[in-house]
Amino acid sequence: MARNLILLSSALLVTGLTLVGTLEVDDNIGTTPRVPCYFIFGDSLVDCGNNNDLETLAKANYPPYGIDFPTGVNGRFTNGRTIADLIGQLLGFDTFIEPYATATDEEICRGVNYGSGSAGIREESGSHLGDRVSLDRQLRNHEAIVSRISALQQNKTLTDDHLKKCIYIVNIGNNDYINNYLMPDKYTTSHQYKMEEFAEVLAQQYTKQLKTLYHLGGRKIAVFGLGMLGCAPAEMERFDTDGKCVDWINDAAMLFNDRLKPLVDELNFCFPNARFTFINLTNILAPKHGEPLPNKPCCQVRQDGQCVPEGTCCSNRALSVYLDSFHPTEIANLVLATRAYTAESSVDASPQDIGQLTREVYDT
Ligand SMILES: *[C@@H]1O[C@H](CO)[C@@H](O)[C@H](O)[C@H]1NC(C)=O
Ligand SMILES: *[C@@H]1O[C@H](CO)[C@@H](O)[C@H](O)[C@H]1NC(C)=O
Repeated sequence: MARNLILLSSALLVTGLTLVGTLEVDDNIGTTPRVPCYFIFGDSLVDCGNNNDLETLAKANYPPYGIDFPTGVNGRFTNGRTIADLIGQLLGFDTFIEPYATATDEEICRGVNYGSGSAGIREESGSHLGDRVSLDRQLRNHEAIVSRISALQQNKTLTDDHLKKCIYIVNIGNNDYINNYLMPDKYTTSHQYKMEEFAEVLAQQYTKQLKTLYHLGGRKIAVFGLGMLGCAPAEMERFDTDGKCVDWINDAAMLFNDRLKPLVDELNFCFPNARFTFINLTNILAPKHGEPLPNKPCCQVRQDGQCVPEGTCCSNRALSVYLDSFHPTEIANLVLATRAYTAESSVDASPQDIGQLTREVYDT
């Protein structure tokens, strides 16, 4: 396993991305986790099977998804582990956090994964693909889980104490663009709002949702910005840019990201007994020496950008950033998770990285 990772990391170095602390992922296995619990909110970048039983086209419960996952196909939208899985390993969890859809009483105390492919900050995002668990619904699910934990522990002090030690990650917003604002024929938002206005209403709704997470006991919360949506193979194909990123889409995502950082600062000011932190995925995946990242999908893709079921898949997945036309490969996730956990600079994670977040203690 460790040797495998070294091979993967050296392979990706060739593509211009640097990788730090890969071995730590494996070294941590079998040790006590640094925090007692870990809760995951978001979209297909973190979904670990919540969509499997929903009526939607946004599912990844068929090969080649899961081809490099220890137990094979499972609903993750990547070939192996997601960014959430890898952060879990860096935190020292020796098994993956279970999806909300199937988590048992025994499992919920160490955390739950609420992530749902095609879900957004806004309720309607992704609706043309079918059902999904929007962030508001994920928060209602979390409320139910908190009640279940309270019922199990029968002691409010104990439960409050437990919940404030957990790490919470929230990785959402991509579908409010990809599967909403950028689809003017299916959604009204781009007719209603200019790009700046949309970033603003989205950020306002997100602020309310993050406050809800705080009121449900969350104190150590990492908020992920959007990635380079305009560099997704699907968008480059759609706008026929001949292998170049779609700049105006990246600019649209940037307008939203630029609001997230001050939003996180404001939440830290409002709630001094909590720590919110901003993870800058754009910076982490930015090309190091100006050379563009390889951004061809690894698998054979269908019209909607997902892998063709049972379709072909490249063998050198360790050299690809994208598995399908939207979703990163495990190796790209490894770079993202590693730098979110141990930032190379304050541009990766601000004011703290997730590793630092684990060491915070909140008494109130
Ligand atoms: C509840 O848990 C707290 C903290 O662990 C403990 O000090 C307290 O005695 C417990 N209360 C009851 C009623 O068991
Ligand atoms: C994130 O990183 C990008 C690329 O380095 C940078 O341009 C941007 O300002 C950063 N965003 C925030 C909100 O810090």
